[in-house]
Amino acid sequence: MKKNVIMAVAAAALVAGCATADKQGPKNTINQEEVMSKMTLEDKAHFVIGTGMAGFSGNDAVIGATRNLVPGAAGTTYPLDSLGIPAVVLADGPAGLRIDAKRDNDSATYYCTHFPIGTLLASTWNTELIQQVGQAIGEEVKEYGADVLLAPALNIMRNPLCGRNFEYYSEDPVVAGKTAAAYITGVQKNDVGTSIKHFAANNQETNRMGNDARMSQRALREIYLKGFEIAIKESKPWTVMTSYNYINGVYTSESKDLVTTILRDEWGYEGTVMTDWFGGKDGAKQMWAGNDMLQPGKAEQFDSIVAGVKSGKLNEADLDHSVKRILNLVEKSPRYQGYKYSNKPDLKAHAAVTRQSAAEGMVLMKNGGALPFAKSVKNVALYGNTSYDFIAGGTGSGNVNHAYVVSLLDGLKNGGYTVSDELKNAYTTYAADCKKAIEAEIEAAAKKDPKNAMLLRFMPRPLPAEKQFSADELTKQAAASDIAVITLGRISGEFMDRKAADFNLSDSERQLITQVCDVYHKAGKQVVVLLNIGGVIETASWNTLPDAILCAWQAGQEGGNSVVDVLSGKQSPSGKFTMTWPVKFTDAYSSKNFPIDQDPRIDMMNQGAKSANVKNVDYTDYEEDIYVGYRYFDSFGVPVSYPFGYGLSYTTFAYSDAQITEKGDAYEVSVTVKNTGKHEGKEVVELYTSAPNNKAANKPVKELKAFAKTKQLAPGESEKVTMTVQAADLASFDESASAWVVAAGEYQFLVGASSADIKATLKANVKAQQTKVHNVMKPQGTMNLLKR
Ligand code: BGC
Repeated sequence: MKKNVIMAVAAAALVAGCATADKQGPKNTINQEEVMSKMTLEDKAHFVIGTGMAGFSGNDAVIGATRNLVPGAAGTTYPLDSLGIPAVVLADGPAGLRIDAKRDNDSATYYCTHFPIGTLLASTWNTELIQQVGQAIGEEVKEYGADVLLAPALNIMRNPLCGRNFEYYSEDPVVAGKTAAAYITGVQKNDVGTSIKHFAANNQETNRMGNDARMSQRALREIYLKGFEIAIKESKPWTVMTSYNYINGVYTSESKDLVTTILRDEWGYEGTVMTDWFGGKDGAKQMWAGNDMLQPGKAEQFDSIVAGVKSGKLNEADLDHSVKRILNLVEKSPRYQGYKYSNKPDLKAHAAVTRQSAAEGMVLMKNGGALPFAKSVKNVALYGNTSYDFIAGGTGSGNVNHAYVVSLLDGLKNGGYTVSDELKNAYTTYAADCKKAIEAEIEAAAKKDPKNAMLLRFMPRPLPAEKQFSADELTKQAAASDIAVITLGRISGEFMDRKAADFNLSDSERQLITQVCDVYHKAGKQVVVLLNIGGVIETASWNTLPDAILCAWQAGQEGGNSVVDVLSGKQSPSGKFTMTWPVKFTDAYSSKNFPIDQDPRIDMMNQGAKSANVKNVDYTDYEEDIYVGYRYFDSFGVPVSYPFGYGLSYTTFAYSDAQITEKGDAYEVSVTVKNTGKHEGKEVVELYTSAPNNKAANKPVKELKAFAKTKQLAPGESEKVTMTVQAADLASFDESASAWVVAAGEYQFLVGASSADIKATLKANVKAQQTKVHNVMKPQGTMNLLKR
């Protein structure tokens, strides 16, 4: 890489210094023509490649300072000092800004707020709230001197075991797309950028850099691209991050069909596209495809681009397009605009935002009257390792360097409850012993395998087995407490998919639930199970035992406080599931083609090396086709534990006066929701459509098209909510015509409290329409696709 980068930092500071940060003031602009005319081919090749990643690539002596503009950020763009173009800072991620909390020779701290995981945010179904969370995250991005947040993550939850489902939003593209759009809008209100990722079909972590996701054009369009299409059109993210995997034999970052034909030509996207970190192989091909920026940057990519242009394999005009798009990005950035960041975001205000949003995304799964806690509940017996060591979020780039996490123990104390000190002491000693043993094991493994040491330290720590108690100990605790809460925890993260055992309960968990329920029930006391998890787990074998189950997800740094806001009744739960909870994970049809308990095959620097052609590792056939999640369970009558869209409240709601009105090319559906119970509460209303002759036409029995959430309704209060569906939204993708086709006929519009609880059925006659698109990204072989 070029040696003028230290100078670049100085020049960048100069540019920043003379710029006006004031939003009202004149905006600094880059004279693109002039800059481009002064750039050599080498300058251009440098400019489209990032500044490397410590310990992996790049030359620290030359570019260390640039890379460290904001320590701990994932990367930067390449600065061109002599042209006055500064580097801009790119930093993760979905649950909040990920930068180092501490810096060398600096007594200040740079902690960021750990907001709830993506799955929890989506479970709120409250796009206004998600926008507020995005806005708070964006403020930290801006005030800590970063320019682009590498989020949101929008891949479809194709299978329950995907290791990164916690970062993702839903098995449904409408929920995923609308959630992402709200998040992006919120973040970008701060005049900082986002990077919607991972475009597209990064639905498994196993061999993610070498896996070929093989699917029909229909599944690609209807399921895997749809959410991106919705979010990108609605919220215009500054950047898009391509994924690691191949789709139908081509790396996404090297696919002109994906990055240019679909994203830019069909959807009209005008921003910058970057690779995922070390994603793809052939720099020249990535440029040709329209993938503007290669992150974090490797020397070979520079050679490939320069050689590509010299040999005529890559048109310099294509490279120029990418350079211009990166210049556009730099121009918009706070750094170029000279924003003087404070390093002092309002962490206190953001703690309140995360606390409230987390409570709203929790899902009440069962309630036999144990929740909210009765006034007589004062003393709570807390069981389960994670009650004392609450999990704020997942691991990897989706993690946040937070200052603290409020445990359930602390949350209860803050809420005025007392907890058993005896239990607390027993768990504290047990946890410390287990932690020591686990860390020692990881360090030993890292020493044995130095090449992967960093990764090993980055990956989720196994959780200890649940501590067991004798019947006598439990009886004593039951006598001394008013109620028991058992927390079950799960942690997952980047690089690895969850194991089958992670979906199922362990023997120690099962035994703990069985024994606590048994003893407490005999003593006339109730038991609540709390799930501190990032993805769905098995519940059918034990959900009859406790009196209530609350899915708290991984709820960010205020987790314990948020949970207690719900347990105490201060906030009525109003979250609903955005992914179906299957009885067994093998019930999801995609499990036939998913890497179950496979070696994760991580090789950051040698991605895509195909040593073998192992099913579900080197390639994955998406044979379920469009039948992902509820589209499968509902259409094929497969029983589930909790359906898509499900969630209880402390109150009850009645739906009335559902109506449909045709308005030009759209259908407006309204319904009145009344709080008929005794608590305040909000209700999520879901609108599905069912196409005529859907079985014969091989379409799902129903598909979500819109949703709405009421405001907080007092007992007796009503609200009329309105949802709109465009006629074009009713289209399915017809491969033979390469078109989105709306079949004519009578469609049902189903107003539901969940996919399995339809409250009203409306009908409308819809006219045929067709929108042609390009016939691209075809699978190369044949697959045994599921059909109705
Ligand atoms: C992840 C991305 C992340 C990037 C930078 C990659 O490993 O897949 O989601 O933004 O690293 O940290």
